[in-house]
Amino acid sequence: MLLESADGSAWLVGCEETMNQTKKIILAITGATGMLYVVELLGLLQQQSIEVHAIISDSGCKVLDLELGKKTAELQGVSHWFAIGDFTAPMASGSCRYDAMIVLPCTVGTLGAVAAGFSGNLIHRAADVSLKERRPLLLAVRETPFNRTHIVNMMTVHDAGAIICPPMGSFYNKPKDLQEMARNFAARVCDQIGIETTGLKRWEGIEDAG
Ligand SMILES: Cc1cc2nc3c(=O)[nH]c(=O)nc-3n(C[C@H](O)[C@H](O)[C@H](O)COP(=O)(O)O)c2cc1C
Repeated sequence: MLLESADGSAWLVGCEETMNQTKKIILAITGATGMLYVVELLGLLQQQSIEVHAIISDSGCKVLDLELGKKTAELQGVSHWFAIGDFTAPMASGSCRYDAMIVLPCTVGTLGAVAAGFSGNLIHRAADVSLKERRPLLLAVRETPFNRTHIVNMMTVHDAGAIICPPMGSFYNKPKDLQEMARNFAARVCDQIGIETTGLKRWEGIEDAG
């Protein structure tokens, strides 16, 4: 929890309070297509009582509205929202501990900023902090096709420690609708950052094989 005090030290207390109790993650939403993934991921995190500190870019707000007709306040499962320009937010400092950061969906613009170490907004800064603190950072980069710059930037952040996990649906598990396809991907994201989920249809081979 974030608590204010006259000498400004209370925010440190706030960080320690949640340490070792609940898993606490940063969810950054940028302006790429794929907001259904966000809804499904938040649902899974909520089931596991994960504390979610969320940031959304201006373009993210726009695409959320265009794709789902939703405002940020209508997204279920966010514990705290932080403004995109708020460099006093806890995730702007490495001294406030988080278990992981997910950028979903991640634009190639945000990817480029992270690759360049450019802290133009709180999402870029939090991603930079995650890398320098050697904490899990997952970027669900969404663009098609990729140009060379995108591919080089993905290599750069991969080599700096990030997980590149583009939102790509799978068909072998026969999702009944887009929601189930999005939930399957969201569960794979949780797998990557060590959060248990229930309901993911996992491949166990072909029963009649051989
Ligand atoms: C409907 C819509 C869909 C978009 N989809 C993508 C996308 O899939 N990938 C991408 O990199 N940018 C996409 N964009 C463009 C980004 O929103 C734009 O480049 C923005 O400046 C990115 O800023 P941000 O990274 O701070 O969110 C889309 C824009 C709109 C309006």
